[in-house]
Amino acid sequence: MPVTTQQLIQWKQQKRSIVALTAWDYAIAQILDVAGVDLILVGDSMAVVLGYETTLPISLEEMLFHAKAVRRGVKRALMVVDLPFMTYQESLEQAMHSAGRVLKETGAQAVKLEGGYPAMIETVARLVQAGIPVMGHVGLTPQSIHQIGLRQQGKTEEGLERILQQAIALEQAGAFSIVLEHLPAALALNITQKTSIPTIGIGAGPHCDGQILVTSDVLGLSEKPPPFAKIYTNLRSNITQAVQNYIIDVQEGKFPE
Ligand code: KIV
Repeated sequence: MPVTTQQLIQWKQQKRSIVALTAWDYAIAQILDVAGVDLILVGDSMAVVLGYETTLPISLEEMLFHAKAVRRGVKRALMVVDLPFMTYQESLEQAMHSAGRVLKETGAQAVKLEGGYPAMIETVARLVQAGIPVMGHVGLTPQSIHQIGLRQQGKTEEGLERILQQAIALEQAGAFSIVLEHLPAALALNITQKTSIPTIGIGAGPHCDGQILVTSDVLGLSEKPPPFAKIYTNLRSNITQAVQNYIIDVQEGKFPE
């Protein structure tokens, strides 16, 4: 049965951990989906897979192109697509237009957007009223890299309280889930207990309702994975080895036989 936003909320109630990963093309999406990942995010972290330094330059068109490929590979998981930088912050109309394009053109079930300051809460409420499921994202929000860097957030009393209030406001605005990125585990636990929508952690400790990682980090493809990523295989060196073997075979006349 395909995973729905309501199913994620039920899993929180049942304390069944939600497993999420990112995808950027058909092949990766199909592998993750068949393996049993519950939520597949076409994250704007894909910018790095495309060779950008940060998530800021990736465009809505690029996200749509990749999300359509991911859609073709996903049969079971809930598919969520990030709204990239400056495709939803300018106005409610801009956010509605961008999120609408994501749902209509890619077949994704939901969008994710970063931030919890008052303007973003209003945006989430309007998108939800229009029938667009929204996942929030608080803590380290990489689209604000030039303001907050890539540091852990929520380390001061003020920061703890602000992020908790943002999460509560996102739930009240109708978000179906929230990503908690690079926060102290105690804050993630507090948010998880005080909200009835699932929290999906990344670098936020073990107490969230689910976990997400960036698949290129998990597979050992990233040049600079963050300290909280767990690397389960080293595709960078596996691919290098395979390609070098191929080069030798061709140069030495061993392939084709
Ligand atoms: O873009 C992304 O991959 C994300 C995850 C870090 C949650 O937003």
